[in-house]
Amino acid sequence: MTSTSFAEASPNQSFENQWAVETHGLTKRFGENVAVNGVELLVPRGCAFGYLGPNGAGKTTLIRVLLGLTHADSGTMSLLGFPVPKHRAAALARVGAIVDEPRFHGHLTGRQNLQLLAAAREPAARDRIGPALERVGILHRADDRVSKYSMGMRQRLGVAACLIGDPQLLVLDEPMNGLDPAGMHEMRDMILSLVAEGRTVVLSSHLLDEVERTCDAVAIVDRGKIIRQGPISELLAGATVVLQVDCSEPHRARALLEATTIGAAIEVSPPGLGITLSAGTGREVVAEINRVLVEGAISVYRLQEIQASLESWFLSVTSRLGASE
Ligand SMILES: Nc1ncnc2c1ncn2[C@@H]1O[C@H](COP(=O)(O)OP(=O)(O)O)[C@@H](O)[C@H]1O
Ligand SMILES: [Mg+2]
Repeated sequence: MTSTSFAEASPNQSFENQWAVETHGLTKRFGENVAVNGVELLVPRGCAFGYLGPNGAGKTTLIRVLLGLTHADSGTMSLLGFPVPKHRAAALARVGAIVDEPRFHGHLTGRQNLQLLAAAREPAARDRIGPALERVGILHRADDRVSKYSMGMRQRLGVAACLIGDPQLLVLDEPMNGLDPAGMHEMRDMILSLVAEGRTVVLSSHLLDEVERTCDAVAIVDRGKIIRQGPISELLAGATVVLQVDCSEPHRARALLEATTIGAAIEVSPPGLGITLSAGTGREVVAEINRVLVEGAISVYRLQEIQASLESWFLSVTSRLGASE
């Protein structure tokens, strides 16, 4: 490391704030193609944060810009409070990242690969090799060549490589890619345990279901732009709810409800009705639906509110976006 990079920020210099990642107006173009378009990203510390969007949405490009692997055209950003690129060396000393597929020397063992990486870091990094291998569950294979590792084991080795730097922030680009369901499950548990230790994990994914299961908060990105971001629970609070009503005579039940002022989409959905309630519909509407049916001599067996999954919400947001443009 050159003396200039130390001069950028003293090791004790602190830029503490609440955000693990903060960007403003971040933009990256490839010719006419705006891969990252005015991104305003706020990742709170100590959470698992999903950067969610379809393939080509600009997820990898955003991560590459954050890590300084490619330059932004405009905008500002900071990692763990350190403005980058000005204080990149200080910031990246506290960040571990896996972009694309983790790359290792196949003819070396997992442990030897980590030793190579540790040699480029502070002395303490070497002491973290054993614990990191144990932590990701590959200590028993640490002395096998990486060429013999499965995709899942390489991903774990990638996380172990991050952990030897004891990072406060981990940035994982599509960590579930190429993993079988068991591997995904293990990766999810590992991410949750890293967060439980107080670290922040930012992961990109096109797998809505995985983000919903793994992350506390999410930014949904489409064509380079963030459409929505926030805690998953808050985003779902703005989503529609389907009321499943199991009842006798569903066709007559629907006709009864359609004759009232309850302004909801009603479908016959065996064994009863599926009623789509818009966001913010009060509970009294549910009671009213029940009352209308019972007074109409319909037998109501069950009423259940089904919260829209993030997936259906995501699809409704992106299709609305497509429709309005
Ligand atoms: N090095 C590059 N040169 C030109 N275009 C690129 C480059 N990298 C990415 N892109 C384009 O930028 C857009 C976003 O790509 P990417 O960030 O890889 O999306 P994601 O990771 O969400 O799938 C795509 O249209 C892609 O073709
Ligand atoms: Mg990508």
